[in-house]
Amino acid sequence: MTEKATLTIDGRNYEFDMFTGSENETCIDIQKLRSETGCITMDPGYGNTGSCYSSITFVDGAKGILRYRGYPIEQLAEQASFVEVAYLILYGELPTPKQLALFRASIAEHAPLHTSLEHHFSGFPKSAPPMAILSAMLNLVSCFHSEVLDVHSEGPGFDKTVALLLSKVRAIAAFSYRMASGRPIMHPNPNLSYCSNFLHMMFSDPYREYIATPVVERALNLFLVLHADHEQNCSTSTVRVVGSSRANLFSSVSAGVCALWGPLHGGANAAVIKMLEEIKDSGKPISHYLDMAKDKSNDYKLMGFGHRVYKNFDPRSLIMKKTVYEVLDELQQEDPLLQVALELEEKTLKDDYFVERNLYPNVDFYSGILLRAIGIPLNMYTVLFAIGRMPGWIANWRELLEHNHRISRPRQVYTGQTVRQFVPLRER
Ligand code: SDX
Repeated sequence: MTEKATLTIDGRNYEFDMFTGSENETCIDIQKLRSETGCITMDPGYGNTGSCYSSITFVDGAKGILRYRGYPIEQLAEQASFVEVAYLILYGELPTPKQLALFRASIAEHAPLHTSLEHHFSGFPKSAPPMAILSAMLNLVSCFHSEVLDVHSEGPGFDKTVALLLSKVRAIAAFSYRMASGRPIMHPNPNLSYCSNFLHMMFSDPYREYIATPVVERALNLFLVLHADHEQNCSTSTVRVVGSSRANLFSSVSAGVCALWGPLHGGANAAVIKMLEEIKDSGKPISHYLDMAKDKSNDYKLMGFGHRVYKNFDPRSLIMKKTVYEVLDELQQEDPLLQVALELEEKTLKDDYFVERNLYPNVDFYSGILLRAIGIPLNMYTVLFAIGRMPGWIANWRELLEHNHRISRPRQVYTGQTVRQFVPLRER
C-alpha cells in the first residue's frame, strides 16, 4: 500500500503520495500541490526539495556514506581507475575487460583537438582564467562536431559524445595551461593512460618528455575518482536545468563548469590553499580565523568546511587526507600547509560553533595539498575538479532525457509593487 501524507490548509485535508527510495529515503510527491491547493512551497537553496529520481549516486550525509551505482567510494578509490569509474557512472555497471578496452580506445581516438579549435587558444589573453576557457571551449567543441548537437541518451551517437567529452575536457584543460605559461601545445600520446596523458600534455616539452611516476599517476587517479559524481550538487543541478530545455550535452556541461567555478562549490579547493597560506604567513593564531568565521557581521567562511548534505565527515575528505600523507611520504616532500590544515581541523573539532553546526572538512579541504604535491598549479585546481566531474554531469544529463523530465521552471512568491499606472517622462 502506498503511504500518504496529509496536508491541512484552512481546515481542508489534501492527500499526497509518498515514495521510498532503495535506501529508504522518503519523499512526499507534491506534483499536484499547486493545481489542488493553489499554494507553492518555498525552499530557497532547495535544501528540502528533491528535483528528480536518480539511480546514479547515493549519499547518506548523516552516516558519511557515498556510493556510485551501489559501490562504496572507499573500494573504488582503492581499486578502480578513473576511466573504469566513469564507465560505471555512465553505463550503470562495471565494465568487462573488453568493454573497458573499447572505452579506453574510444577516449584515445578522440583525444586530439581539431586544428581550427587549437587556434582559438591563441585568442585568449594569457591571464584568462582556465575555468572561463574550459567553459567556452567545451561549447565550441560542438561547432566542430555538429553531429553531436542532435545526440540522444543512447546508441553510438551518445557513446561517441561521451568519449569526445571525456577526452576533450582533458586536452582543453592542459592546453589552457600551456597557453598561459607561453609554451607550445603538447599533443596527446595515445599509448598513455588517461591520467599520464593529461600530465604529459601539461608538462612535457618537445625535447623532454614528462613521465609521470606511479605515485603521481595514482594520486591524480584518486583525485578524479573522488570527484566523479556527487548527486544533485550545484553544478550537476545546473547541467540538469540547462539540459531540461533539451539543450545539447556540450552547452549543458559548459554551464556546469560555470556553476562549479564559484568558491562555495568547486572553487573552494583553490580558496582553501589561499586561506592556509594567509594563515601561515600572517603569524596570527588560528583562533583569529575561527573567530572571523564565527562572526556573523562578515562573510568570512572557513573554506573547505561544511556541506549541505554531510552532517558528519565527508568520506572523500578522509580518503584524501590519508592519501596526502602517503603521497608526501612517497615523494619525500614536506608541506607546511599540511600542518596548518591539521591544526585548523583539530581546533574546529573542539569548537562549539563548528561542532553544533556539524561543520567538518569537505572534499576540497585536503585536495589542494594533494594537487600541490604532484605539481598542479593553483589556478588549475577547479579545472581538475571539472575533469573529474564530467562523468557525473553526463550521466545526469542522460538520466534526465531517459526520464523525459519536464523543463525546470521553479515558481516564486512575488513581493514587488502591485499594479500602478505608467507616468510619462515629462511628468516625472
Ligand atoms: C563542494 O553539494 C555538493 O555535493 C558539493 C560538493 C560536490 O562534490 O559537488 O561536495 C563539492 O561544493 C564542497 C563545498 C565547498 N565549499 C566550501 O568549502 C565553502 C565553505 N563552506 C560553505 O560556505 C558552506 O558550508 C557550504 C556552501 C558548503 C554549504 O552551505 P549551506 O548548506 O547553505 O550551509 P549553511 O550556510 O546553511 O550553514 C549552516 C550554518 C550557518 O550558520 P548559522 O546561520 O546557522 O549560524 O553553518 C555556518 C553558516 O554560516 N557555516 C559556516 C561554514 N559553513 C557553514 N561557518 C563558517 N565556515 C564555514 N565554512
